[in-house]
Amino acid sequence: MNNLEFNKIFASILVALLCMQVFHLIGEGLVHPVFLEKNILGIDGGAKISSDSKGIEKSLEPIEPLLAAANVTNGEKTAKKCLQCHTFEKNGPHRTGPNLWGVVMSMIAHAADYVYSQAMKSHGGKWDYEALNAYLYKPREYIKGTKMSFVGLSNVQERADLIAYLRTLADSPAPLP
Ligand code: HEC
Repeated sequence: MNNLEFNKIFASILVALLCMQVFHLIGEGLVHPVFLEKNILGIDGGAKISSDSKGIEKSLEPIEPLLAAANVTNGEKTAKKCLQCHTFEKNGPHRTGPNLWGVVMSMIAHAADYVYSQAMKSHGGKWDYEALNAYLYKPREYIKGTKMSFVGLSNVQERADLIAYLRTLADSPAPLP
């Protein structure tokens, strides 16, 4: 390869690089991409949770229609997720969370000798089926300021089975709705 040949190749590479740079700049100048601030598609499928003044989620699927046919055995399996913080047996000790024997239809903050968060203590009302449903769906949305750090159960059947199981943890289980 003589010198001239080499120079030609070198020059054409330079020109090609220069062109790339120029087109890149022109392209950037012409196109102004606008990025959305939020994703349009929610990860949870876009389900909306709206609250009324009592914080009850209106669009939450109710569990009462599912309770009669709920599967208590599956509920007991789901309850394993709670064992880290709760005991279920009668007169069982409190752990991070209170013992849950007899919680269905009891007053919210039902254990006399457990130290609840201010939020739960001052909430009022009782743990009827739909209150438990809403709390176990998103604990920290139903009772803002609760110290129960549990994400919640998004599946309505899972909540129904679990609450049907919780109902059996009583000397005389509350009547089904
Ligand atoms: C990481 C620990 C943790 C896990 C896991 C957990 N909880 Fe709790 N739970 C708590 C704490 C702490 C409280 C007390 C909340 C407060 O005072 O705000 C509580 C309170 C409750 C209450 C209210 C009790 C009352 O006396 O009024 C219910 C009902 C309850 N939990 C059910 C469940 C169920 C059912 C599960 C499993 C699906 C579960 N929790 C999982 C920590 C936990």
